[in-house]
Amino acid sequence: MTKQIQFTETVLRDGQQSQIATRMPTEAMLPIIKTMDEAGFHALEMWGGATFDACLRFLNEDPWERLRSIRKQVKNSKLQMLLRGQNLLGYKNYADDVVWEFVTKSIENGIDIVRIFDALNDTRNLRTSVEACKAAGGHCQIAISYTTSTFHTVDYFVGLAKEIAELGADSICIKDMAGVLTPGTGFELVKRIKQSVDLPLEVHTHATSGIAEMTYLKAAEAGADIIDTTISSFSGGTSQPATESVALALEDLGFETGLKMHKLEEMADHFNLVRNHFREAGILNPKVKDTEPKTLIYQVPGGMLSNLLSQLNEQGNTDKYEEVLAEVPKVRADLGFPPLVTPLSQMVGTQALMNVLSGERYKLVPNEIKDYVKGFYGKPPVAISEELQKKIIGNEPVITERPADLLALQLPEFEAEIKEYAKSSEDVLSYAVFPQQAKDFLGRREDPFYDVPLQIVDVKIDIS
Ligand code: CO
Repeated sequence: MTKQIQFTETVLRDGQQSQIATRMPTEAMLPIIKTMDEAGFHALEMWGGATFDACLRFLNEDPWERLRSIRKQVKNSKLQMLLRGQNLLGYKNYADDVVWEFVTKSIENGIDIVRIFDALNDTRNLRTSVEACKAAGGHCQIAISYTTSTFHTVDYFVGLAKEIAELGADSICIKDMAGVLTPGTGFELVKRIKQSVDLPLEVHTHATSGIAEMTYLKAAEAGADIIDTTISSFSGGTSQPATESVALALEDLGFETGLKMHKLEEMADHFNLVRNHFREAGILNPKVKDTEPKTLIYQVPGGMLSNLLSQLNEQGNTDKYEEVLAEVPKVRADLGFPPLVTPLSQMVGTQALMNVLSGERYKLVPNEIKDYVKGFYGKPPVAISEELQKKIIGNEPVITERPADLLALQLPEFEAEIKEYAKSSEDVLSYAVFPQQAKDFLGRREDPFYDVPLQIVDVKIDIS
């Protein structure tokens, strides 16, 4: 029997998000979309994540228009987006009406598969987007935010996979945004989930620590249905492994991938030019291509390592780097082992930094950490000790309900606020998720005298 494995190509979303801070304009994509559609991919991940913000903020582009113009050319592969559950594309909770409308309009404008995740794996934060996706006829893929800790055992993740299946997922993804899934654990995890849940299983990892190809191989052997790769031009380092290389290796081992190598070559020829342009412009930092095994040693995502180093650099405290790195897992344990995905990775990193630099642990605590302890991000995987809770928030209450239950409907207010410039529900949704950026984009589009120029902001690393 021939073994089969399918590929999701990520260059239009995660590949470019990981290596050029999501700065690829639609015009660099359109000439190659038809070829990508003919290459034999299961799906093209091309929307959501940081693409939306980058379109409005840096590219003066309407993200909805990008989706529609790509949709027009894609007939064979599915179009996939990444959605952060109740947070949509950002880091705060939205009311259910906004979540419902955003998911519905994403599917209406051309998305087939919505990959939905919650940073804390709190399934209450997934419910509304999952229901909206199914109601709109989309394929609902629920992702497990993979992480390592004494709490995050294979048994735990298998249990979570079952819970996700009951929630109505059409497929499941093991989402290893930090690149810490090892080949052995990957094999066991895929095998056990496939035995327990009768749904297609996709694996998503990053090449940061240098083991991703091995992890994909073992995942394929264990029966994974789909893996995520990026065309060679934007592969390796902080991004995914290269599509062509992984496909060649798996075919050598007897897997049928359905990919057409000459189409992949055409894609690489195109995206190499795009990559070279960003390299020359200094936007592709050579460091994103580095291999960083420290990610495995410290169980800290690569993006977080470089963020911490640059924060310490700014303050002239680089000698404290190792000390801060050692503090990160302690803070994480104190806070109930949250997966280190944006924004929790930044929050945990900042707290570790403050603990070391102030000379007293939790003497200084950022408001985001206080909100997290109060339950506004969802339920921490493991309960936080009463002692630490008291130290961080005193006698302030901790909520036990789903955070979004505390929010009143928000759409009418957003509609009213942006009615001067919004021409469609999509415009209102852009405003809802990125108010200032969308207002500036729509203002520039609608008003010849709107005088806020495009922002030029430093490149920041988003881990997803
Ligand atoms: Co990713």
